[in-house]
Amino acid sequence: MASALRTASRAGLSLPRSSARPCSRTAPIALRRHYASAAPATGERSYFPHEPTGPVIKTSIPGPESVKAIERLSKVFDTRSLNMMTNYQRSYGNYIADLDGNVLLDVYAQIASIPVGYNNPSLLLAATSPEMASALINRPALGNFPQHDWADILETGILKVAPNGLNQVFTGQSGSDANELAYKAAFMWKRQQERGGAHVEFTDAEISSSMTNQKPGSPELSILSFKSAFHGRLFGSLSTTRSKPIHKLDIPAFDWPQAPFPACSYPLDQYAAENAAEEQRCLDETERLIKEWHNPPAAIVIEPIQSEGGDNHASPNFFRGLRELTKKHNVLFIVDEVQTGVGATGKFWAHEHWGLTTPPDIVTFSKKAQTAGYYYGNNDLRPNRPYRQFNTWMGDPARAILFRAIIQEVERLNLVENTAITGRYLYNGLERLAQQYPGEIKNLRGKGQGTFIAWDSPRRDEVLKKAKGVGVNIGGSGEAAVRLRPMLIFRKHHADILLDNLEKIFKS
Ligand SMILES: Cc1ncc(COP(=O)(O)O)c(C=O)c1O
Repeated sequence: MASALRTASRAGLSLPRSSARPCSRTAPIALRRHYASAAPATGERSYFPHEPTGPVIKTSIPGPESVKAIERLSKVFDTRSLNMMTNYQRSYGNYIADLDGNVLLDVYAQIASIPVGYNNPSLLLAATSPEMASALINRPALGNFPQHDWADILETGILKVAPNGLNQVFTGQSGSDANELAYKAAFMWKRQQERGGAHVEFTDAEISSSMTNQKPGSPELSILSFKSAFHGRLFGSLSTTRSKPIHKLDIPAFDWPQAPFPACSYPLDQYAAENAAEEQRCLDETERLIKEWHNPPAAIVIEPIQSEGGDNHASPNFFRGLRELTKKHNVLFIVDEVQTGVGATGKFWAHEHWGLTTPPDIVTFSKKAQTAGYYYGNNDLRPNRPYRQFNTWMGDPARAILFRAIIQEVERLNLVENTAITGRYLYNGLERLAQQYPGEIKNLRGKGQGTFIAWDSPRRDEVLKKAKGVGVNIGGSGEAAVRLRPMLIFRKHHADILLDNLEKIFKS
């Protein structure tokens, strides 16, 4: 921490006196002279002073120190999904460090959830402020005892970047939680309409049947989601997740409808006619399900780009069509921006690419926001009674303060624009590689979507493994996709490093 605080001072940021106290023995990699870098050859400046100029690979990964640490951890914690044992104190900017002196360019970023770099000096200032300390040690039960400045924290943070047309928020803990809360809001909205309004009392039958999980108290309503969608792993969200059986096996699920997601050909613009026909087929089937499914949908939920399910894209026209369907049939339109939100697509919210004439009813968020929840605008989405949408924490001011600092950093450095510009540069480079190595990069996608880029690889898992060996941490999605999820501070010189290393892998 002390070292990271020194990093903050080097970045020209003044630190509050009380926070400048040493409390960690390991230094971020920027401060280890060995890695300190000059300006990159392109002349472009990194947003992080002293960020490494490139990856450093000293051992195979995992190296001996990591192996020891993994063995120790395995005795008390399931490590079977472990990707890389990490030293966060020594990670910096776009670079992730391990325990053996290896430093990798990170274009996976904690499953798309690090927004502005490891050990970001501005976030460190926010994290070490007296305001943050108070939020951490006096965590409020926000529904009952909100802190005096909660409105201020929301208005200057989470709500400052609210999607157009949405001016209220219900805060939560994770992406799955955000979606489940949104589904509950949708069900209560639907039943309130059917009942005749907020003032109408529950019937005795509703009250008693709700306690035995029967209708009418527990109504047979549904949330419609799409094939290959991922909306989380809690009970309600898992019923709308359709990406991989391994997430769903053995878990009881709701009898909810699944519409087809367009199987588009890429690049989208080159196959516009075929894709339009496929999208119309999916819209027609969605409409049929809304009208005919035995448990009528109160809402449909969709990701702007299906992420965990393999980076599947559709055109703005498809999403506009869905919005029209939801209005026509009086169901809510929930846009799950848990992975696409907060700048990665070159817009703050990915659904801004669609040119909707009316906003979504609900937008859920998490990951890069480092907090979670759902935005909405319609007052009828507040249930008619207190405690119907409620839990102990109802979010976390500490995480909301962090998101506010992230937003300030995004604005200060113009990072959404940076992501759009870097994304174009990276996409062009990948297009060139795809021409040179057509067997390695198939169905390149994400043109015009910032750095939210992916392609299919016939030897995906091998490519991901070899990438570590050359110093790049990359993730996959779906069955065969290599997905890029760099941070918003990823610039052209980082893209060059990525492209060079991909070429090394393709040649090997
Ligand atoms: C689009 C989307 N929704 C929801 C979730 C679930 O978020 P969490 O893992 O924080 O519960 C994810 C996670 O990857 C996601 O990508």
